[in-house]
Amino acid sequence: MSESPEPIRGERKPEAPALNRPRRAFIKSYGCQMNVYDSERMGDILALEGYGVAKSAETADLVLLNTCHIRERASEKVFSELGRLRELKEQRRATSRDLLIAVAGCVAQAEGREIMRRQSAVDLVVGPQSYHRLPDLLRQARLNGRPIETEFPVADKFAELPYPSAQRIRERGVAAFVTVQEGCDKFCTFCVVPYTRGAEFSRPVTQVVADAERLARAGIREITLLGQNVNAYHGEDEHGRACSLGSLIRRLAEIQGIARLRYTTSHPADMDAELFAAHRDVPSLMPYLHLPVQSGSDRVLAAMNRKHDGAHYLDIVDKVRAARPNIALSSDFIVGFPGETDADFEATLALIRAVGYAGAFSFKYSRRPGTPGAERHDQVDEAVKEERLARLQALLEEQRQAFNAAAVGRVANVLIEKKGRHPGQIAGRTPYLQAIHLDGPEELIGEIVPVEIIAAGPNSLSGRRVDERYPAGECPT
Ligand code: 5AD
Ligand code: SF4
Repeated sequence: MSESPEPIRGERKPEAPALNRPRRAFIKSYGCQMNVYDSERMGDILALEGYGVAKSAETADLVLLNTCHIRERASEKVFSELGRLRELKEQRRATSRDLLIAVAGCVAQAEGREIMRRQSAVDLVVGPQSYHRLPDLLRQARLNGRPIETEFPVADKFAELPYPSAQRIRERGVAAFVTVQEGCDKFCTFCVVPYTRGAEFSRPVTQVVADAERLARAGIREITLLGQNVNAYHGEDEHGRACSLGSLIRRLAEIQGIARLRYTTSHPADMDAELFAAHRDVPSLMPYLHLPVQSGSDRVLAAMNRKHDGAHYLDIVDKVRAARPNIALSSDFIVGFPGETDADFEATLALIRAVGYAGAFSFKYSRRPGTPGAERHDQVDEAVKEERLARLQALLEEQRQAFNAAAVGRVANVLIEKKGRHPGQIAGRTPYLQAIHLDGPEELIGEIVPVEIIAAGPNSLSGRRVDERYPAGECPT
C-alpha cells in the first residue's frame, strides 16, 4: 500500500514516512474472544495498509480501541482511555509524528455519534460489521474527515476481509479462532448483543472450510469456532442447504493437520441431536463444553427470556455426557438479575452442585441501557449482588480446583503451544483448556504429546512427558 506522506487536516504535519520509519498501530482489545479475533483481523488489514505492530500507544501512529459493551460501565472506561489518548495526541502535535485514534467494537456501534461529539480527538469510529472498510475510513480520517461507519452488512465484511499470510498466522501461535457465526436473535433481557451485533448470520460452509484449510496449511493445530450463538450456526452448504454446527464440525474434522476443534459460545436451546452426535463421534472435538446457563432458578430464567428452564439444562448436560462421558463443562452466571430472591440464588447454587463445573465466568448483573432488564423496578441492591457473587465464585472455584486436582496422576494429550517461563520448559494446554508446563524442547511446539500430570497449582498444571509409554504418539484418552 501507498506509504506516501498524505496531506492531512490543516494543522497536521506529514506523517511517519517523512521520518523514514514505518507506521505502527497499537490495538487494545476489550471483552470477549470475538473481539480478540476481530482485533487480529483488523491487525491484518492494517498490515496491508503498511502498519507494523506497536506495543503501546506511546510508540504508535494509530491507536485502535476495540471496545466491549456487554457489562459494567464499559463506555465510561472507553471515555477515560480516550481522555488519556487525547493528551498523548496533543503532545504529539509538537512533534512531527501525529497520532490517529480509532474506536471500534460494540461501544463504537452503540455510541458512535456520542463518542465523536464528546471526544474531539477521535478520528474515526467503526462498528463490528464494517471492519473491512478500515482502509477507506483511515484515508477519510487523514483527509480531514471524521468518519463513522456503523452499518450492518455482515456478509460483506467476511467476503472482503483480507487473509493473513502463513507467517502472520503462525506468529500468533498454533491455536486459532475462526468466526463462523455472528449476532444473536435470542434477546435475553439482560443482554445488549442483539442490539450491538445485530441479527444472527452464519458464514457459508465453503468459506469456513477454506479458512480452516488455510490455517491448517500454516501449521495451526487447534481451531475454536466462534459465534455469539455459535450452535445456532446454519451456514449454507454447496447445495444451498443449511448446515448445522454438528455437520460443520464433521467437515472440519477431516482437514489434515487440524487435531483439535472447539466451539464457543453456545446457547442451551440450540443444542441439537447433530451436535450431541458430533461430541460422540468426532475425536478431535475436544471434550469441553462452555454452555452458559446464567441462573438455576426457573423464575429468573423465564424473566431473562432464556427459553429453557433448569430441568431442560440438566437434561442437555445428561445428553452430552452420555455422548461423551469424559466431557467437562463450563458456564456463565449472572447474579442479582432484577427480582432475584435468596431462594432464586440458592437454586443457582443447587444447579452448580448438580452439574459440577470445570470452570466458569460469573458476573454481577449490570444494567444495560436499552435492554428490558434495565427498565425493571426491582433491581437488586449492589451489596446483595456482591455477597451472592462471592458465594457463587467460592463454590465455582472449589469445583475448578477439585477438577484440576483430580487430573494429577493422569496422562493427558497436551498441545504444546509455546516456550515455558523457564529455560528448557514448554507450555501447552490439555483437552480441558488447562494450562500446563513441562520440560521439553521447543521443537515440540505444535505437537500433541502425552503428558503425565504431576501437580496442580491454582492456575496451571505441571507435568512430564511420558512418550515412552505411548511410542506411537497421543495417549488414548
Ligand atoms: N450483566 C451481567 N452479565 C452479563 N452478561 C451479558 N450481559 C450481562 C449483563 N447485562 C454475561 C452473560 C453472558 C456473558 C458473555 O456475559 O453471562 O453469557
Ligand atoms: Fe446475549 Fe442471550 Fe444472545 Fe447470548 S444468547 S448473546 S446472552 S442475547
